[in-house]
Amino acid sequence: MVEATETSSDAAVLRAMAAAANQAPSGGNVQPWQLERTDGALRVLLDTSYAVSLDVAWRGSYVALGAAVWNARVEAAAHGRLGPVALLPEGPESRVAAEVRLDDDRDPALAALREAMWQRSTNRRAGDPAVRFDEGSAAALRAAAEAEAGRAAIVADRAGLQACGALLGASDRLRCLSPWLLDEMLSELRWPGREPVEVGLDVRTLELGRSDAAAMRLLRRSPAVRRLARPMVARTMRGMTRQALARSSALVAITRAGHEPRDYLQGGAAMQRVWVTAEQLGWAVQPVSPVALYAVDASDHRALVPARHTEALAETTAALRARLGLEPQERLQLLLRLAAAPEPSERSLRRPLEEVLSA
Ligand SMILES: Cc1cc2nc3c(=O)[nH]c(=O)nc-3n(C[C@H](O)[C@H](O)[C@H](O)COP(=O)(O)O)c2cc1C
Repeated sequence: MVEATETSSDAAVLRAMAAAANQAPSGGNVQPWQLERTDGALRVLLDTSYAVSLDVAWRGSYVALGAAVWNARVEAAAHGRLGPVALLPEGPESRVAAEVRLDDDRDPALAALREAMWQRSTNRRAGDPAVRFDEGSAAALRAAAEAEAGRAAIVADRAGLQACGALLGASDRLRCLSPWLLDEMLSELRWPGREPVEVGLDVRTLELGRSDAAAMRLLRRSPAVRRLARPMVARTMRGMTRQALARSSALVAITRAGHEPRDYLQGGAAMQRVWVTAEQLGWAVQPVSPVALYAVDASDHRALVPARHTEALAETTAALRARLGLEPQERLQLLLRLAAAPEPSERSLRRPLEEVLSA
């Protein structure tokens, strides 16, 4: 519990909740949120200025917002000021995704996650495959997902991880063979010292070798090189993803039934609780996004890859779902790769709170 002092006014608690929300993870670190402090509540709004194809119908953004709301709840709980949360209080068409009210509710289990919530980060380092995933961790992650009305489907056997690695590698290959997806992926990268790193992926967090980072930079700068190198880039990405899975201890799929914005907001909370709990247990965590993560039908698939690859995308997606043991109604919220790995070399930054929080 955070010690109550004279600074624990409503305004100070709401500001602390906003700071916590602003630390949430988001695809490409685009931070697709704005925050508003109202009388006794923090509002989390969807910011639609960063449109990317993978984020079909803003579903990935809602997952990020769900994580931000969860962070705000943890902070409120740690101050002993937890109140009710309204998801989409103005309906799904509104940009207001959630409202977290202050009250005097207690949730010691949530409050106990505060330090781990602040410590959380993406860790893209390779793991030690000799470290086996244990049943205690699996049970804790399942309980974490269920506490937020989600489900954690876990693959932790070597053969299963290899099969998922092959499918996720195939998916990354298709991502690189889609000219617009590759362009979007490269446009998320940021080189420190040359450009601001408060938004986007600071290349130092990608744990690439020097030559891979230089190759990425060349690819981003030159569309001609990109066109020529596309098949080679696709092969390399496939290999890297396979290797990452082969050096992991588990792959965790967070799912929920339904694909409305509310489901992804709730799914984001489940994802974040699983992530923070996994780190508390000592695991390094990296999200993995298969191309069709947020696609729910054939027209979504068609918007992702060129026509000649849509069949391969549908097959890969179906095979991955089968490997993860998902029921037809279950929608993927995110996949998390868990590994026994050292600390990440660099932590990613955020926009300053002043730019994000109003009132
Ligand atoms: C919906 C979503 C999708 C993501 N997809 C990926 C991914 O495919 N690969 C990856 O390495 N990180 C992925 N991330 C992690 C983000 O890049 C990361 O959260 C962001 O850069 C901020 O860094 P941090 O998590 O260390 O705070 C994803 C995160 C979210 C919320």
